[in-house]
Amino acid sequence: MTKRALITGVVGQDGSYLAELLLSKGYIVRGITRRASYPHTQRIDHLFKQHDDRDPATQFRVTYADLTDSSSLGNVLQEFEPTEVYNLAAQSHVGISFETGESTLDINAIGPFRLLDSIRRAGAKDVRYYQASSSEMFGASPPPQSEATPFLPQSPYGVSKVAAFYLTRMHRIAYGMFASNGILFNHESPRRGLNFVTRKITLSISQIVAGELDRIQLGNLDAKRDWGFSGDYVEGIWRILQHSEPDDFVIATGEMHTVRDFLGKTFGILDLDWEDFVTQTDRFLRPAEVPALLGDATKARKLLGWKPTVGFDELCRMMLESDLAAKGLTLDQAKAKAKLLKPRRRGA
Ligand code: GDD
Repeated sequence: MTKRALITGVVGQDGSYLAELLLSKGYIVRGITRRASYPHTQRIDHLFKQHDDRDPATQFRVTYADLTDSSSLGNVLQEFEPTEVYNLAAQSHVGISFETGESTLDINAIGPFRLLDSIRRAGAKDVRYYQASSSEMFGASPPPQSEATPFLPQSPYGVSKVAAFYLTRMHRIAYGMFASNGILFNHESPRRGLNFVTRKITLSISQIVAGELDRIQLGNLDAKRDWGFSGDYVEGIWRILQHSEPDDFVIATGEMHTVRDFLGKTFGILDLDWEDFVTQTDRFLRPAEVPALLGDATKARKLLGWKPTVGFDELCRMMLESDLAAKGLTLDQAKAKAKLLKPRRRGA
């Protein structure tokens, strides 16, 4: 039987990589997205070119639905009849969740409830449900963090994800649903949103080299994160739903770096000293911070056979190269331009 996957948040970083993966495996994929007045489908436009939306038998289609709108979820479940549901949609920015706490809780916590409840009400007992849970749930719990580590969330975002985690578990226990959590540590890529720290840095470097920006303003440089590659992590997500039983899994690299390390590595690729270009500002500090995240993915390795393929250095290079390429620059061309920048920055 052909598998049918419903992906919420299909226009996001993970949604786009997951759609590619599932299409390559022969799935029929339906993505859902919220209406926006300005196009925000850049990450999946290449898939629209490969799959003609006008063909009734197309393998890939995106329709409108919203995690804050139960009837839209019920409609798409009824019409598409998925065998797997991947709930990746969220207000995913931790810092912004302090400013938009209520809507973050609505989308990230009540949203999964609406979706799980709609699946249950549809009587679709065999549907497999994936919840995008987050290492942000561990919050202030010291590293390393595994499935056994207590949650101590530090933000409205973290609290919303803890609620969604337990709602997913509850549907598994109370109703026997195949509902699993992937507890994903930070994962990045050239498709990362522009206001997450890694992409903000690589994009800003490309702008500095192109002469469009002088300095980057950043918040807490001491934060430690376990940064992996989104392309690897969607493989983990898929494996979680192929497992023999529903369960909760940490997906992480097991390597931790500070924001400073990320700056040192990416600026270093162009032989630049990051301290010449970065200003630390309170503007980007959060009311409460998660100091250190380091994942222990032993369970996923053992039970799912999952492991990351892209390390920290390769991730830094991949993201920087991509942002430079968007400015029409190869790494060598950027290095040559960076050489000319250096004396100016140092006041020579
Ligand atoms: N965004 C941002 N912007 N973060 C900054 C900045 C800045 O200018 N300066 C320092 N940081 C610090 C943040 O305070 C945080 O400690 C760290 O860099 C990483 O921030 P983000 O890249 O915004 O990611 P995050 O760790 O808060 O959250 C991401 O990972 C979670 C998994 O742990 C997001 O992808 C979440 O959606 C995800 O659940």
